[in-house]
Amino acid sequence: MWLIELLLEPDRKPNEAAMHTNPLQDYSDDKGNVIEFSGTTSPKSFVTFRGSNNRVIIDPQANIPFMSVLMDCDNGTLIIKRTRAKFSARIRIGQDSTIKIGKSVSSTGPVDISACEGTTVQIGNDCMIALGVRIRSDDGHPIFDVTSGKRINVSRDITIKDHVWLGIESSILKGAVIGEGSVVGAGSLVSGTFPNNCAIGGNPAKILSTNIAWERPHLSLSEPYYKPHVSALKKQSKYWNLTKQSSTGRQALGKLKRAVKPKKNKKK
Ligand SMILES: CC(C)(COP(=O)(O)OP(=O)(O)OC[C@H]1O[C@@H](n2cnc3c(N)ncnc32)[C@H](O)[C@@H]1OP(=O)(O)O)[C@@H](O)C(=O)NCCC(=O)NCCS
Repeated sequence: MWLIELLLEPDRKPNEAAMHTNPLQDYSDDKGNVIEFSGTTSPKSFVTFRGSNNRVIIDPQANIPFMSVLMDCDNGTLIIKRTRAKFSARIRIGQDSTIKIGKSVSSTGPVDISACEGTTVQIGNDCMIALGVRIRSDDGHPIFDVTSGKRINVSRDITIKDHVWLGIESSILKGAVIGEGSVVGAGSLVSGTFPNNCAIGGNPAKILSTNIAWERPHLSLSEPYYKPHVSALKKQSKYWNLTKQSSTGRQALGKLKRAVKPKKNKKK
């Protein structure tokens, strides 16, 4: 999708001639661009450098069926630790920006991740990412206040903590923070801060339930084929926690409780 954007905007960067597209394997050039990856991937995987001092560092044990990386500007960093199962992505990194993928992250298909304007997108350890997920710390184009000329849609870091499950076709927008052990429902649009061990969903995403924990074994690919209680599995105890109420989380939980428990009628 981003490649199509590039083809439609051929004059987007003055130093287009200086663009270098390389296979995803060990590489360095005289502009300080570096790829460190001695593992295996598809021959279709590539990295494009347009500027200087960009770094792509991928653990040799990462299982990367496909990855495209566009380093648009200078001083970009991509770090990917060893994966669990497969992890594929279409990545775009702008000026002074960073994308970090923790240990044992998996994706069912290529996840779209973008960071620019000095932001960081951080995905914690043991996260599970379903098909069609998009994560972007920027809106791609600026929006300004007409009176003051000030930028309104400022790019902001995204933090997805350890053991978060991003459901199918979910989108994670700038500034989002998702607490450890939480689940993002299918098709959700996430912006804002959410606590640990909760399920969130909708557009915009709200808390659907708290004090939940998810486990990775697939319902039909791993025995037993019915899993009515956690005793059927080897649970990852460290992610079984009650939801802590952070300040933003408290507001969200307050709304949830009010929705679940309607106010009692006043006594006459
Ligand atoms: C979020 C999710 C985990 C909730 O499952 P659940 O705990 O069984 O919840 P329920 O289906 O009982 O729904 C509870 C409420 O949340 C709402 N809800 C459920 N999923 C939602 C979603 N994705 N977006 C918005 N609201 C959602 C339901 O409408 C229901 O609302 P109500 O109480 O007002 O009727 C699940 O619906 C989901 O989206 N799973 C992701 C699946 C996926 O992406 N799999 C990919 C394979 S890796």
